[in-house]
Amino acid sequence: MSKEEMAFVNLPLQPPRSRRLSPILLLPVLFLILVTSNLGLGYGWPSASLLFHNTWQQPKAGSVKWLPASSCNAGTKCGSVIVPKDYFDESAGTASIAISVLKATKLPKKGTVFLNPGGPGGSGTRLAAPQFADIIGHDWDLLGFDPRGINMTSPRVACFDSQPDFGLFNANSVLEKGFTISTSNLSDPVAKASVEGELIAQAREFLALKKAQAQVCAETMGDELKYMGTANVVRDMDFMTQIFDGKGAKINYWGASYGSILGAYLVNMLPHRVGYVVIDGIADPVNWSTEPSHKWPINWLASTEKTYRFYLETCSKAGPARCPIVKYQNEPYTDIMARIESFFDDLAVTPLPVTGSGALRPGILTSGSARALLLMYLERPPLWAESVLAYAEAMRGNGTILYNKLTSLLSSRAASNTHYDLVRLGVTCMDSPPPLQDALGLPEPTAEDLAAEFIRTMDLVSPHFGPSVSVGEQDGGCQYWPTAGRGPERFTGPWNASFDDGIEIPMLIVSNTMDPITPIESGLRINSLMPESSRIIIQDGPGHCSLAITTLCTAKLVRDYYAGKLPENGTICATDYDFFPPKNETEVISMLSTEDARLLESTKVIGSLIEDIRQR
Ligand SMILES: *[C@@H]1O[C@H](CO)[C@@H](O)[C@H](O)[C@H]1NC(C)=O
Ligand SMILES: *[C@@H]1O[C@H](CO)[C@@H](O)[C@H](O)[C@H]1NC(C)=O
Ligand SMILES: *[C@@H]1O[C@H](CO)[C@@H](O)[C@H](O)[C@H]1NC(C)=O
Ligand SMILES: *[C@@H]1O[C@H](CO)[C@@H](O)[C@H](O)[C@H]1NC(C)=O
Ligand SMILES: *[C@@H]1O[C@H](CO)[C@@H](O)[C@H](O)[C@H]1NC(C)=O
Ligand SMILES: *[C@@H]1O[C@H](CO)[C@@H](O)[C@H](O)[C@H]1NC(C)=O
Ligand SMILES: *[C@@H]1O[C@H](CO)[C@@H](O)[C@H](O)[C@H]1NC(C)=O
Repeated sequence: MSKEEMAFVNLPLQPPRSRRLSPILLLPVLFLILVTSNLGLGYGWPSASLLFHNTWQQPKAGSVKWLPASSCNAGTKCGSVIVPKDYFDESAGTASIAISVLKATKLPKKGTVFLNPGGPGGSGTRLAAPQFADIIGHDWDLLGFDPRGINMTSPRVACFDSQPDFGLFNANSVLEKGFTISTSNLSDPVAKASVEGELIAQAREFLALKKAQAQVCAETMGDELKYMGTANVVRDMDFMTQIFDGKGAKINYWGASYGSILGAYLVNMLPHRVGYVVIDGIADPVNWSTEPSHKWPINWLASTEKTYRFYLETCSKAGPARCPIVKYQNEPYTDIMARIESFFDDLAVTPLPVTGSGALRPGILTSGSARALLLMYLERPPLWAESVLAYAEAMRGNGTILYNKLTSLLSSRAASNTHYDLVRLGVTCMDSPPPLQDALGLPEPTAEDLAAEFIRTMDLVSPHFGPSVSVGEQDGGCQYWPTAGRGPERFTGPWNASFDDGIEIPMLIVSNTMDPITPIESGLRINSLMPESSRIIIQDGPGHCSLAITTLCTAKLVRDYYAGKLPENGTICATDYDFFPPKNETEVISMLSTEDARLLESTKVIGSLIEDIRQR
C-alpha cells in the first residue's frame, strides 16, 4: 500500500450507516445532487459532497481528473474517475478508476461504450484505440478502464511487495509446474487410482500455497479486498455512464472472456439501464457466481478436445515442413496425439531441465506445465506455428521455448511500473460463493475434492486437459480469502433478464465453435436464458474469443450491431485462416475494399493487443 493510501485508510470514518441503501435508491439521490449542484468544470461533475459531507478530506465521488495528453495513449483523453468505494455505504470512502477515452469523431455521438479485455485482471485503458473504433463505430466514445484492483486504478490488489517477490513465490511450485499426471488414460482402474493419488498430493501443496497467498493478502491489503467483486464494477460503469453521458443515459459495453461475465452481470443486474452490449468468448455466469472455482473447469473445457483434434488434423494436413510435430503429411491425428502423450508421460517421470543463455531463467519443464501450455496455445491460433516448433524442440530435448513461455507468462509484469498481483483472486473470490455456502451446501473443498473434480473433468469432458487449467486461469483457495463473503454486494442472478425487465436492445453473444476455454455451450446457455433479449452469432473456427482469428463476417456483424442493425439469431460466420503458414510467406494482398481491409487489419491489431494484455 502506498503512503497516500495508508493515510487515506487511517482517516477517521463516520460509523457505518445502520440501514443499507439499495443502489436503486442511492443513485437517484446521488444524481439529484450531482445535477443540482452547479460547480462542474468540463467533464468533472460537481462532487457529491452533500452526501459525503463527513468525509470531505477524501476525493469527491463523481469528480473526474484528467491527465496531460502526454501521459495518455495517442489520441485519447485519460485520467481517473472518483467513485464510491461501496455504493451501499458512503463511509467506506472512494475509489479511483483509471480511464482512457477515445472520443467519437463522427457526429452525432451515440454514447459511450465501455471496454473490457478479460482476465479478470486485464487492464482496459489501452483498448481505447482507433482500431477499436473501426470495429465498434466512430460515432461512439470508447472508454477503456482498469476495473477495481487493476493497474492504475486504486485501491489496487498488490499483496506481495514486488513482482519479483510474487514470481519467487510461484517459481518451481505446483502453481508454476501445473498438475502432473502419469497418464491421461484412465480406462484402467489401477491407473486411475494412481492418478488420483498423484493429484491429491499435488492438491495439498496447491491449497497450502493458496492459503499462504491469502494470508499475505490479508496482511498487506486487509479489508481493502472487499471492494473488488464484479458487481461493484457494474455499478462503476453505471456511475461513469451517467457522469459522461448524462442522467439516465444507457450503459453500452463490449467485453471478451471474463468480460463476458462482467457483461452478463451488467445486463442482469441493471436490465433497465443497458443499451448495446456485446460479449465474446463466453464463460458461464451461473457457474461462476454459484459454484466454487474448482468446479468451473468442467464447464470451461467442453470444446477443448474438439479444438485439440482440429489442431492436430490441421497440422497433419500442413505436413512436417510447416508443422514439425508430424512425421509425414496426413499422418493420422491419433498417432500424433499418442506421441505427444508419451512425451508428457516421459516428462512425468523425468522433468526436463532448462538452462543456458536462451532461458529467461533456468528451471524445469514438467509434464503438468507442458500440458497447461498446450491448452494455452490452443486458445491462440496465431501462435500455433510457434507452438509446434516449441513442442518439436522440447521433444528433442530442448525445452527452452516452452519454458520461456511459462516464465514470461508468470512474471512479465516485471517490466511494468505498477505492481499488482493476485487481482484475479481478488475478483473471483468476491464473486464466487463464500465457504460453506456454495450451491450444494458443501464444506471447504479439500485436496481430495479437487482431485475428484479433476478426474470427473477428465472422464466427462477432457481426458487430456482436465487438470491443466490452473496455470492459465489462476483460481482456487477462495475458502482462505480474507474478505470472502464480506463484499458490499454479490450477484447470483437471476440470469434471464427480458424486455419486461427493461432491456430494449437484445445483447449480442459471440461464440466460436472451437473455443477451448470458453465453449459455445456457455454462449448457448445465456442465449437460452434470454431467448428474446439476446442473439448469438457463431464463428465457425478455433481459438479463444472471435478476435483470436480475424474474420470480416463477424467483425461486420458486430459493427452493424452497434449501428443498430441486429443479426439474425444463430448467424454462422465461416473462417478462413492459414494456421501453419509456409515459413517465408509474405502478406497476401487481398482483393478486399479499402474499408474491409482496414476493418480486418483493425480486428487483427485489437485481437493481438487483447492477447498481450491477457498474458500478463
Ligand atoms: C497500466 O496502465 C498503463 C497506463 O495506461 C499502461 O501503459 C500499461 O500498459 C498498463 N499495464 C498493463 C499491465 O496493462
Ligand atoms: C488406454 O489403456 C488401455 C489399457 O489399460 C488400452 O487398452 C487402451 O488402448 C488405452 N487407450 C489409449 C487411447 O491409449
Ligand atoms: C456448472 O456447469 C456444469 C457443467 O456444464 C453443470 O453440470 C452444472 O449444472 C453447472 N452448475 C450450475 C450451478 O449452473
Ligand atoms: C535451445 O533452444 C533455444 C531457443 O531456441 C536456443 O537458444 C538454445 O541454443 C538451444 N539450446 C541448445 C543446447 O541447443
Ligand atoms: C427467471 O429466473 C428466476 C430464477 O431462476 C425465476 O424464478 C423466474 O421465474 C424466471 N423468469 C422468467 C420470466 O422465466
Ligand atoms: C439461436 O440460435 C442458436 C444457434 O442456431 C440456437 O441453438 C438457439 O436455440 C437460438 N436461440 C433462440 C432463442 O432461438
Ligand atoms: C519461399 O517459398 C517459395 C515457394 O513456396 C520458394 O520458391 C522460395 O524458394 C522460398 N524462399 C525462401 C527464401 O525460402
